[in-house]
Amino acid sequence: MNQKNGKNSLGIDICFEDLDNPIELFKKWFSKAEETEINDPNAVAVATSNKNNQPNVRMVLLKGLSDKGFVFYTNFNSRKGNELKDNQKASMCFHWKSLRRQVRVIGKVEEVSENEADDYFNSRPYKNRIGAWASSQSEILDQRETFLNRIKDFEKKYPDQQNVPRPPHWSGWRLLPEEIEFWLDGEGRIHERLNYKKNNYKWERELLYP
Ligand SMILES: Cc1cc2nc3c(=O)[nH]c(=O)nc-3n(C[C@H](O)[C@H](O)[C@H](O)COP(=O)(O)O)c2cc1C
Repeated sequence: MNQKNGKNSLGIDICFEDLDNPIELFKKWFSKAEETEINDPNAVAVATSNKNNQPNVRMVLLKGLSDKGFVFYTNFNSRKGNELKDNQKASMCFHWKSLRRQVRVIGKVEEVSENEADDYFNSRPYKNRIGAWASSQSEILDQRETFLNRIKDFEKKYPDQQNVPRPPHWSGWRLLPEEIEFWLDGEGRIHERLNYKKNNYKWERELLYP
């Protein structure tokens, strides 16, 4: 699998590079997406499933990335939050239209540390921090007015913009990857797929038919 004579032995496009660590490859693809996407290159679909094995998917924003995994923040009492508490298995899918590329991640989630969540929460604009208190995410809202009033109430409760505590139900999930698949568009649907799988804490690579 090493590069020999400057040629990748898997015979795949140079865009896949020749890296043992898929997180490194993800970072390269992601920084390219940051240059080319019109907005939100960090937008990613997250799939969860409930106790009846019913899959469920929605978009979130990737807000942290390390060798450990992919972090997003949300209300832990939301639908996704409750599903992830019941079943930590989850999957993410990035699609960068401008690059015609897709990355899929499969694994299990863990909760980020209190410090990590606090740091990110405190970096958010005031309105977003108040919103985290005011929104009972995914619960039924009788009318919009109720939500707007709750926002006003929390603005009164936390008038100091420098000092809004993080709600106990608001934090981050980190998806710990067990597989990361890179997909590259090819002419005539002759696409290319490179899949990384973790085996005994080591990443292994394989090509997949498109
Ligand atoms: C581009 C985009 C980014 C989003 N980012 C987040 C996010 O980071 N966290 C979040 O809780 N919801 C985010 N949302 C809203 C979710 O898609 C979803 O509506 C909400 O989290 C409730 O989902 P649930 O009922 O499955 O828990 C985003 C929506 C879009 C379209």
